[in-house]
Parts: sequence; structure tokens; C-alpha cells
Amino acid sequence: MSDSHTKIHNKPLRVAVLVSGNGSNLQVLIDAMQAGALPIEIVGVISNRDDAFAITRAQRADIPVAVLSHTDSGKRMTIKTFERHASTQLDEWQPDLILLAGFMRVLSADFINSSIAPMINLHPSLLPVYKGLDTHQRVIQAGERQHGCSIHVVTADLDAGAVLTQALLEVLQKDTANSLQTRVQKLEHQLLPWTILLLAKGVLPLHNEQLSNQQYTCMPTLPWKLYLNS
Ligand code: GAR
Repeated sequence: MSDSHTKIHNKPLRVAVLVSGNGSNLQVLIDAMQAGALPIEIVGVISNRDDAFAITRAQRADIPVAVLSHTDSGKRMTIKTFERHASTQLDEWQPDLILLAGFMRVLSADFINSSIAPMINLHPSLLPVYKGLDTHQRVIQAGERQHGCSIHVVTADLDAGAVLTQALLEVLQKDTANSLQTRVQKLEHQLLPWTILLLAKGVLPLHNEQLSNQQYTCMPTLPWKLYLNS
């Protein structure tokens, strides 16, 4: 068994979280970590917006925060500058896993491919359908019967990496984009901690070689799909 595998099993998984907004998913992880329900340590939070409520949530939990929104001269950071600062910060925190939880900037291939740790993203659709933005609105407009959220490995192609887990719901006649967003977020708040638990325990593979090897022939193929209460 490799060192990194052993490490994941015996020590809390060191998770860095990238955010841009409210941070309700971050809060779910903070609560589960503090309750001892998840074997993780949130080693730091990076926000690309200085008005993100996620910053307050992290600070209240005494988690280190890096706000990388503007340069010292007051200009909004370019993605290149953001990535340079984020890399330095992540090198310092040494995470085992980087989670994008409501992080709304598109990262470059260079940043993703040279990442210090595997990176996963929470996306509000049943990938591979409805990549990108405004997923709830597009689902309503298309008259879809099913919708949900996915957790996938981040690759240079937007929202196109291997999907690890999904949670599904039935779209109701009366649903609007807003009601769907609320219902999907309820699913996210259940899917995310379960997925992180499976990753922390080494049940779900994290590394690309493991994902592409299909070495888990005795296990159901990914993604794992969950019907949760919404
Ligand atoms: C979540 O619903 C997440 O799926 C979505 O942003 C929201 C963040 O909520 N992510 C994306 O759209 C990524 N493309 P939160 O800040 O309350 O966790």
C-alpha cells in the first residue's frame, strides 16, 4: 500500500476549499467536521470575492482564509494573478484534496494540471448534461423531468472530468429556477459530506490513475447515484 494511501486512511483528510459566495456547502462541512462526523481538517479557504459570506463562515470556525479578489493597487485580479497567489497559499497549506464549492471562476489548464492535490467540483446538474452556468433555468426551459447535482474531478475541460457521485430529484410541474435551486442545494448539502467521507476513507478513488484503471471491477461503476430527500 502506498504512503499516500495509508495517509488518507489514518489521518484526517486535509481539505482546502475554494469559494465565491454564500458558502452553505462549506458550512455543512464545517459543521460535520466540528461534530466529529467527518475525518477531515479544513486547512484553509480561498475566496476570489471579498464580499463572499463564506469568508465569515470560515473565520467564525477559525479556519485560515485567503481573499484573492483585488491586487494591492485595487484592481480586480486577473485569473493568472489569482492562480499565482492561490498556488503559493495551497503550497503552504499542503492539502490532500482541493474542493471547489461554489467557486465561480474558470481555472486555467496550467493551474489544474500542476495542482498540488486532486481537485473536485460540486456542480448543480446531472453531468454530463448542463455544464456551465444557469443550469436550473435551462433545465426548466428544456422541460426536463430529472435534475440534480454532481461531484466530479476537475480537469482542464470545464465540468467534464470523471463524475464521482450524483444526487437526483424529479422536476415538479410547479418548479421554477428558484425552487429548483433550493431543492438542488438541499441535495448538495447531503451529497457533499457523504462524498467527502467516501474519499477520506479511500472508498472512492481520488487519483486519475485509479479512476481510469477501472480496478474496482467488483464495485458498481461510477458515478454513484443517490436518490435523496429534497
Ligand atoms: C452551489 O449550488 C453549487 O452547486 C454552485 O454554486 C452554489 C454555491 O452555493 N456551483 C456552481 O454553479 C459551479 N459552477 P454555496 O456558496 O451556498 O455553497
